[in-house]
Amino acid sequence: MPVTVGHRSLLLVRDGERILATERACPHEGADLSLGRCGGGRLFCPRHLASFDLRDGSVSPGWSFRPLRLFDVEVAHDGLWLTLD
Ligand code: FES
Repeated sequence: MPVTVGHRSLLLVRDGERILATERACPHEGADLSLGRCGGGRLFCPRHLASFDLRDGSVSPGWSFRPLRLFDVEVAHDGLWLTLD
């Protein structure tokens, strides 16, 4: 689910029981990752099909660009709290 937090365009992702946030633009060429899909603990870019490990943001083998930025999300009684750095 795409969300905007301050000036950041992020993506909320559910990976099993875990909820996390990622940057929304793919670090390769900026594709909108909200149009991708998740599966097996990975987020797949819709443009060139690189995928990102949702534990650490690392990109699938064969690609040389930087990892995807991940942000912790805390599920609280009053909503979701994101830790941005
Ligand atoms: S734009 Fe995402 S892999 Fe190329």
